[in-house]
Amino acid sequence: MALALATTGTIAAAGSHRHCHCPLLVLLPLLLLLLVLQQLALPVDGSSGIPTTLDGPFPPTTRAFDRSLRQGSADVPLTDPRLAPRLDPPAPEQIALAASSDPTSVWVSWVTGRGRVGSHLTPLDPAAVRSEVLYGYRSTTIATAYPHVARGGAEVYSQLYPYPGLLNYTSGVLHHVRLRGLRPGARYYYRCGDASLSGGLSEERSFVTMPAPGPSSYPRRVAVVGDLGLTGNSTATVDHLARNDPSLILLVGDMVYANQYRTTGGKGASCFSCSFPDAPIRESYQPRWDGWGRFMEPITSKIPMMVIEGNHEIEPQGHGGAVTFASYLARFAVPSEESGSNTKFYYSFNAGGIHFIMLGAYVDYNRTSAQYSWLEKDLQRVDRRVTPWVVAAWHSPWYNSYSSHYQEFECMRQEMEQLLKLRYLLFHLDATQVHAYERMNRVFNYTLDPCGPVYITVGDGGNIEKIDIDHADDPGKCPSPGDNLPEFGGLCHLNFTSGPAKGKFCWDRQPEWSAFRESSFGHGILEVAPFTSNVF
Ligand SMILES: [Fe+2]
Repeated sequence: MALALATTGTIAAAGSHRHCHCPLLVLLPLLLLLLVLQQLALPVDGSSGIPTTLDGPFPPTTRAFDRSLRQGSADVPLTDPRLAPRLDPPAPEQIALAASSDPTSVWVSWVTGRGRVGSHLTPLDPAAVRSEVLYGYRSTTIATAYPHVARGGAEVYSQLYPYPGLLNYTSGVLHHVRLRGLRPGARYYYRCGDASLSGGLSEERSFVTMPAPGPSSYPRRVAVVGDLGLTGNSTATVDHLARNDPSLILLVGDMVYANQYRTTGGKGASCFSCSFPDAPIRESYQPRWDGWGRFMEPITSKIPMMVIEGNHEIEPQGHGGAVTFASYLARFAVPSEESGSNTKFYYSFNAGGIHFIMLGAYVDYNRTSAQYSWLEKDLQRVDRRVTPWVVAAWHSPWYNSYSSHYQEFECMRQEMEQLLKLRYLLFHLDATQVHAYERMNRVFNYTLDPCGPVYITVGDGGNIEKIDIDHADDPGKCPSPGDNLPEFGGLCHLNFTSGPAKGKFCWDRQPEWSAFRESSFGHGILEVAPFTSNVF
């Protein structure tokens, strides 16, 4: 018996004739967040058929969950044909695309060679194989017929555990090439690899660049997924996502769960302490990343996928776990330089009329931090006449009424919420960490606010951990402040200062800022349609 495949509900984010008396707000197009199952969670607006978030606030609603369905799903084995190597080196594998900060540029990444596990490993030489992409407007069976060639760089990383019983790993060669001078909204055909080597080029693939920035063009469909993992449930989510044929994917942290593979034996059993009792840090089994890259390649070689780090990407290694995020930083290309962040932990990009901001919840987010000052500058650069929509995404929800991770990232909210609220109307995709779905009413500082952003938690792509079903307002389910400790940052838990929960840490009913919640696996689809009425 399977858990529900996808998240539910259909909402729209802007009404046509509502007025929000906020400063600095401009034309607002209609944005539809279509979450992929068919059931409507909200009452239907008579004119459009879809209520907008400005029709709210909506009465808090919880879709009941049959607790007997709360079953985990085992990891897909690395011998599965979708995870196992399909080609021999030097053929490229794990091919993946990422958007750059604007649609004239696209990143192409892939892996050559094999990642290896053992006690004494010599890393591969990244200079021994070229990083090149041959591409053009037309499909061709002749590699030399492509009119353009782009070249980039390559690297390897190692995951090292100087403790008995823990396996070391060194990666294949990870290539990243940036194509430039592309036309927006155009299809390109490409092969990647090393054209000088026999069998060194991939088969031809193709992709479509993002639409040009502007208020009247939008990515057709943006898939949002988080906490994905590599289980049977993950494969159902990814299959479903592929059927929805998105033009862009946001993967908002916790991608592979390599750090739980050996501690759970791939079975979803939570036994973190028994697997490596003598080691001060937990081994993260890096071949899972390679299996995941192969599993995702049919999608990621065609559709740009934008990632941001989650806690399962921390993967501490070295003495005492001093080195972190090695796999995340080496495997993914993101437009960090292009967006002025110069770190893969946070960045931004435009896709049509949407400015996407990917924030790092596991690097310093305080007001004195580099990330905060980058965000200030990034927001100042946004021209709302060009990108009327600003969508921010990060891994750890600020608003969350589930018991799991309840108020875990209060410090981040308290540091950054004012900056985002004062300047811009945003959609926040707090996609993940909490393994369930929740959509908030427009809210600021835990108070309903028609000028506040809409927060959406799209929390479970199907990882090895089970779905979250307890709410902090359920009898006996209010966590104690020490239950949800963030893996980065401090503790800023608070009791509510007004409203029905005044003076208390948890509400005694679903909070008014929580519009709808449901425990389910799946992904979300974000659709934006041009809308010309003057909303504000
Ligand atoms: Fe997480």
